[in-house]
Amino acid sequence: MQMLLEGMTAVVTGAGSGIGQASASAMAREGASVAILDSNEAAGRQTAGELTAQKFKAAFFSLNVTSEEQVRAAMAQVINKFGRIDILHNNAGIAIRHTVTEQDEQGWQTCMDVNLKGVFLCAKHVIPHMLDRGGSIINTASVTGIVGVRNRAAYSATKGAVVALTRNMALDYARHQIRVNCICPGFVRTPMAKALLEDPIKAKRLVDTHPLGRLGTPEDVANAVLFLASDLASWVTGHALVVDGGFSAGRPEEI
Ligand SMILES: NC(=O)c1ccc[n+]([C@@H]2O[C@H](COP(=O)([O-])OP(=O)(O)OC[C@H]3O[C@@H](n4cnc5c(N)ncnc54)[C@H](O)[C@@H]3O)[C@@H](O)[C@H]2O)c1
Repeated sequence: MQMLLEGMTAVVTGAGSGIGQASASAMAREGASVAILDSNEAAGRQTAGELTAQKFKAAFFSLNVTSEEQVRAAMAQVINKFGRIDILHNNAGIAIRHTVTEQDEQGWQTCMDVNLKGVFLCAKHVIPHMLDRGGSIINTASVTGIVGVRNRAAYSATKGAVVALTRNMALDYARHQIRVNCICPGFVRTPMAKALLEDPIKAKRLVDTHPLGRLGTPEDVANAVLFLASDLASWVTGHALVVDGGFSAGRPEEI
């Protein structure tokens, strides 16, 4: 049976951990050559090593998504190694939890730089390689970008902006057959969510906000990325796909 991404090259940022790691694995299993990009070299090399050990095509490239120079250089290295880029999963991100009055300026700026500017810079330096053949860009936003979640002022603002940027890019590049979508995960069991799960009472409360009765796995999200990356979604662009166990569907309690 033909694999979904046979002959394609996928770039995944933040692929050293969590959702990005699962997305890179899923795309490799479907036949893509996968460029693993991460600022954490040890984690990124490990992901790439695990994939190549299974005979998948993968390579690690060191990248801090906040630096245009590094983004430009990393994408040039990817082209040098694999010859093309068909899929970009803009996924690197950090989470900070503060209200507006608690939030310091530096932390606000760092969150904007990683979660929003990083998406812009990676798209800017990948899209020129997609203009002739088309491609698929998937941005990792969050449910916090579409519904209010307390105590996450800067984080929510970046994710809402990623949803808006997704729609903008979808319109700007549709005539080049570049599809641009984003995913909005609910709470997913990754190192990012670890701190939220340490207190069992709070952990149960968090699970209960997801009507399907569990937190997500990185693979739950990777399956949605795979769909958007592949030709199965060939008429889907400008969409924000919630993958959230029902978190954003409404209030879970009976009223
Ligand atoms: N885990 C969740 O509950 C959840 C929910 C919704 C959205 N998300 C989003 O999913 C994405 C992945 O999160 P995760 O849960 O897998 O987190 P994670 O912490 O497990 O992985 C994030 C990866 O991004 C990398 N990274 C961070 N800053 C970087 C930078 N400046 N340049 C390059 N790489 C960088 C980290 O080294 C790490 O490998 C993020 O954008 C996050 O906001 C996560």
